[in-house]
Amino acid sequence: MKETLTNANFPQDAEGHVYHINVKRGQVANRILTVGDHHRARAIAKHLDQIDFERSSQRGFLTITGRYKGIPVSIMAIGMGNCMMDFFVRESRAVVDGDIAIIRFGSCGSLTARAPPGSVIVPKAGYCIRRNLDYFCDTPLNPALADTPYLISGTFPADAGITELLETTLKAALEGQQADVGPVITGGLNADGCSFYSAQGRQDPQFWDDNQDVIKTALATHPTTDALEMETSMLFHLAQCAKGTVRAAGCMQVFADRVNNGFIRPEIVKILEPLVGKAVLDALVLVDLEAMNEAGTVWEQ
Ligand code: URA
Repeated sequence: MKETLTNANFPQDAEGHVYHINVKRGQVANRILTVGDHHRARAIAKHLDQIDFERSSQRGFLTITGRYKGIPVSIMAIGMGNCMMDFFVRESRAVVDGDIAIIRFGSCGSLTARAPPGSVIVPKAGYCIRRNLDYFCDTPLNPALADTPYLISGTFPADAGITELLETTLKAALEGQQADVGPVITGGLNADGCSFYSAQGRQDPQFWDDNQDVIKTALATHPTTDALEMETSMLFHLAQCAKGTVRAAGCMQVFADRVNNGFIRPEIVKILEPLVGKAVLDALVLVDLEAMNEAGTVWEQ
């Protein structure tokens, strides 16, 4: 962004481009498929009938807007973590008129034997596991809040209607595939770690983390946890706080098997990823969204 920004509270340039994702009104559709990885976004964009707008921002976001089955959609790559999800949801909300439907397609670690690598998890809700900085602080302001290394939140629901559509399109897409592709696992919870390493229970002898028990504690608190990643619970949380204007669901391919310490094979990703990407688009365009700018939008470059 080269333009002068105004408004320190919510920075935008004179044309209305928001600061981090660098898009303005008319460049993002009401239906958004979000992923972390730019390559994944570009691969999914091959399914679009047409691409009307594309931009990568210097802060690591990619927006591709076009039509799928004639309906405007945006595919947005946002990188990783709660913070990037926050930029993406708030800044998209600022430049889109009308309600927004968001489906996240990510990758995750699995905490359950029922979801081996190659499975796709569709959580019905999510929660967060946060490193408690005060536990690691020599001078915590309130010692009573410093006695546990990781904080586990309550849950935030996915949108039930979008989740049901997603389960249906994913099951149809993965039906009849080879053994290591699928199954679709539904009805459980996603946990967002605030990091890939310590908050997800990965052991790193180079650091003081006190995280040997974090997964055990998370599962004791939320026994139906299936997936562990860094974005989807934050998406559900922000949707819940968006005053009824954002509806969200998510799915994640299992890459890391945290039960048996395995990892997905690249040849399985090659088969799975395009099937899931298309199934997410199929669900997104079925969402009943009374969107103000859906018909006849002129995408501005
Ligand atoms: N993404 C994560 O955050 N964790 C994993 O284990 C795999 C993908």
